[in-house]
Amino acid sequence: MTLVRFFRADGTLDKEVKGEPGQRLLDIAWAAREPLEGACEGVMACSTCHVIVDPGDFEKLPPASEEEEDLLNLAAHAARTSRLACQIILTSEMESLSVRIPPEARNWMGR
Ligand code: FES
Repeated sequence: MTLVRFFRADGTLDKEVKGEPGQRLLDIAWAAREPLEGACEGVMACSTCHVIVDPGDFEKLPPASEEEEDLLNLAAHAARTSRLACQIILTSEMESLSVRIPPEARNWMGR
């Protein structure tokens, strides 16, 4: 079980939820009703699932693929520790994962 913490753009904690190994961060965000659109549902054709990962947790994630890096270059408010939530899969080694939802993130699809 991984404790996933979603922070607002201003840095305040929004929600803390539990995730299981094998779950995508994007699915956890949708279930928690976080404002992450994920318009392409994970087929790497958008960057609307962009999150900014806590630096300590970022170092523990497998590196982003070249394709993910290319999409992150198009994401608004991208930072050094930005990742796409559809590409982050929880593992049993992850005790916690903290991510910040970038400013102006919206979930137009109402998930
Ligand atoms: S949902 Fe489109 S790239 Fe993640």
